[in-house]
Amino acid sequence: MATSNNIKIPRHIAIIMDGNGRWAQQRGLERPEGHIAGVEAVRRVLKAAAQEGVEYLTLYTFSTENWGRPKEEVDGIMELFCKSVVAETPELKAQGVRARIMGDRSALSEKVNHYIDRIESETAEGERITLIFALNYSSRHEITETFKAMAQRIERGELKAEDITADTISHSLYSRDYPDPDLVIRTGGEYRLSNFLMWQSAYSELYFSPTLWPDFDKESLREAIEAYGGRQRRFGLVEPK
Ligand code: IPE
Ligand code: IPE
Ligand code: MG
Repeated sequence: MATSNNIKIPRHIAIIMDGNGRWAQQRGLERPEGHIAGVEAVRRVLKAAAQEGVEYLTLYTFSTENWGRPKEEVDGIMELFCKSVVAETPELKAQGVRARIMGDRSALSEKVNHYIDRIESETAEGERITLIFALNYSSRHEITETFKAMAQRIERGELKAEDITADTISHSLYSRDYPDPDLVIRTGGEYRLSNFLMWQSAYSELYFSPTLWPDFDKESLREAIEAYGGRQRRFGLVEPK
């Protein structure tokens, strides 16, 4: 397990990046400005996480519920994603970042799918840290799709109901290639998961920060990691003597 300044470092951190809209409103700006500032925070926090020795960083970027926002905001977020792929890919490659997308790609436009393919293929060799964007993601949707796929395999005779275990389910989710998050951070002062990694976070440590996402920085991440380092994870067992 990686340590930094003798502190236990979570191998996988997942972040609910919340508060972009409020950050903009507090400055008399339109909400999209908050999302633009949010991209800066992604850049900072990714760099800091890699320096800390974190191996996986998952970022909740767009939920399946976020489609219900005004069309201009949704279009703006999708456009920002595409533009950021173009702008950031060289730096991601230089930093050894492997970028991946997790979510239901079928509802995303052809253009967004093109940029997903582009960022995934161009960064495929990255070995320092895996950056996972949860895009058009929600846990209930992910689990529902997994159940459907399993039912179809049973119908085709490829799977037996008695062979389904927690492991087979984990290995069928969008997150199948990644370990469960050790630490889930939510910024923006709300105390909820908003349909994020509900299966995977069964034993994650949770950390809630009042800081709005565009203000979250290296020090904020350090504070979260220190809080994690001070916790004892028992996984339902008793404290060892
Ligand atoms: C999080 O910030 C980003 C997305 C959900 C895309 P919000 O846009 O939810 O910001 P607040 O919560 O309204 O301040
Ligand atoms: C969660 O934030 C989704 C993302 C960060 C992408 P929301 O702002 O959509 O969640 P609620 O509405 O506060 O639960
Ligand atoms: Mg929000």
